[in-house]
Amino acid sequence: MSKIIVTGGAGFIGSHVCEALLSKGDNVICIDDFNDYYSPKIKRDNIDDCLRNPNFRLYEADIYDNGIISEIFRKNKIDVIIHLAARAGVRGSFLNPGLYQKVNVQGTLNLLNLAVEFKISKFIFGSSSSVYGANDKVPFSENDPVNNQISPYAITKKEAEDLCKRYSKDHNLKVACLRFFTVYGPRGRPDMAPYKFTKLIGEGKEIEVYGDGKSKRDYTHVQDIVDGILSALEKEFDFEIINIGDSRTIELNYLIRLIEENLGKKANIVIKPKQKGDVEITYADISKAKMLLSYSPKVSIEEGIKLFVEWFKKNENR
Ligand SMILES: NC(=O)c1ccc[n+]([C@@H]2O[C@H](COP(=O)([O-])OP(=O)(O)OC[C@H]3O[C@@H](n4cnc5c(N)ncnc54)[C@H](O)[C@@H]3O)[C@@H](O)[C@H]2O)c1
Repeated sequence: MSKIIVTGGAGFIGSHVCEALLSKGDNVICIDDFNDYYSPKIKRDNIDDCLRNPNFRLYEADIYDNGIISEIFRKNKIDVIIHLAARAGVRGSFLNPGLYQKVNVQGTLNLLNLAVEFKISKFIFGSSSSVYGANDKVPFSENDPVNNQISPYAITKKEAEDLCKRYSKDHNLKVACLRFFTVYGPRGRPDMAPYKFTKLIGEGKEIEVYGDGKSKRDYTHVQDIVDGILSALEKEFDFEIINIGDSRTIELNYLIRLIEENLGKKANIVIKPKQKGDVEITYADISKAKMLLSYSPKVSIEEGIKLFVEWFKKNENR
């Protein structure tokens, strides 16, 4: 039984990770600042079940606030850090790049320093496919050069990965940087296409499609992401960067069609110009994850969207 810190544990991915850890008997310490990037009430609802579990402890704190965070480490004997707290979302990073830097880079640095000070056995960092930026070689491999990020958000993720690598080498810290590819599923982020489109199409409202709808994303079901994180916890390595994706890239138009079919409603599409920071394609080469983590994504987009729409219908007023 390990004592594991999950930063951003009340968020979309974090809350699923907390549940999975609790169900295997681990002690979970969730750190989240419940900021209003999207409704804090949604985040509170996300961890409603966790709060009933005696092995779950919530600290409402900002990872940037080193004093408070180090106090949490002092009070608890922590084994592992799963670091998912971040300002996520590409668009917001153009509006407030300083905030993204502060949380995603300085916040990560604070945690790395504490990981060294308190001799944490493993540090798992939630990175992103966005570090591949305008990479036009597909599928994206961990060996590809990554020097072409096209948003401040993506740059913060690359900088945080670089810090993880340096700390791993200098302090013998065991680190896995997992690059997640467009995650969707129950409790999905309201600013992301699957949630946004399901809500708007369901309400009979217009949806805005930026570009011609032919951009492609490697949508990955949150359950597969959780499987990847849990198996990274089990395995031994010094420093690794690993793609966690579905490895079946699909067009935005196809995503919309699946949502329409599952809702039984037609989308009212308004075409808008392509937006800054949007890449044409994401597509994960997952051979490294298969080899190192025995990772094998199980939820197809067709099944995943069906499950998501069912969940949405039951929870749309959350
Ligand atoms: N959802 C995706 O498609 C996706 C893809 C690639 C990478 N990621 C990464 O995965 C992680 C989780 O993403 P998510 O989609 O669950 O986002 P999310 O916004 O739902 O979760 C992030 C959580 O972190 C918390 N947080 C933010 N700043 C904080 C701070 N300063 N201190 C403490 N807590 C803070 C938020 O309140 C939120 O609950 C993020 O690091 C994100 O960059 C997500």
